[in-house]
Amino acid sequence: MYEKIKLKYNLNGLEPYISEETMNIHYNVLYTRYLNNLNEILKKNSFDFSIPKEEIYNIIERFPASDRENILFNLGGVLNHELYFDTFISGEDKNADKSNLVVEKYKSLDNFINKFMEKAKKVRGSGYTFLVVDKDRELALVNLSNQDNPYRCGLFPIMNLDLWEHAYFLDYKADKEQYIKNYFKIVDFDKVSKKYEMLKKNIC
Ligand SMILES: [Fe+2]
Repeated sequence: MYEKIKLKYNLNGLEPYISEETMNIHYNVLYTRYLNNLNEILKKNSFDFSIPKEEIYNIIERFPASDRENILFNLGGVLNHELYFDTFISGEDKNADKSNLVVEKYKSLDNFINKFMEKAKKVRGSGYTFLVVDKDRELALVNLSNQDNPYRCGLFPIMNLDLWEHAYFLDYKADKEQYIKNYFKIVDFDKVSKKYEMLKKNIC
């Protein structure tokens, strides 16, 4: 069975931008539910859990057609939330000055944030904005609906923003724009840069 990831900060570690209550529901209830659902349906199919989760997109046709949609939805729910939780660091702006990643393509961190915000504002309904690396090792911003994941399209996600209402409604009510602005105050840009460097070396 796949195991729940451990957060690298306390549930209240992202306050005041994301509350402990939101994190508790998001991590302990919603993410956990996706993981339990995924484990249950894979177990029913005698799945080999040593296979990395991302690989399931490449072998989805091995599963009965009637289970595929359920697997993909819950798999996306797991991967998207694991990336989202891993995008953050506790403490404001700790790594904003270490972001070599964006300088390459976006010239400055401010320019990158503006582009990301413009993209995020275009998500209608439930979905995510992702920073991805493509097969040419280029960075790109991509919006996907519901629990779709870039791996499904052959892209490698390194950072994402959850734009489902459950991610912000308790803390921001209908002010999604403020949630999007505050998101960047707790992004671990150093870690995102390291993921990019590693992917650039490993994409063949
Ligand atoms: Fe979420």
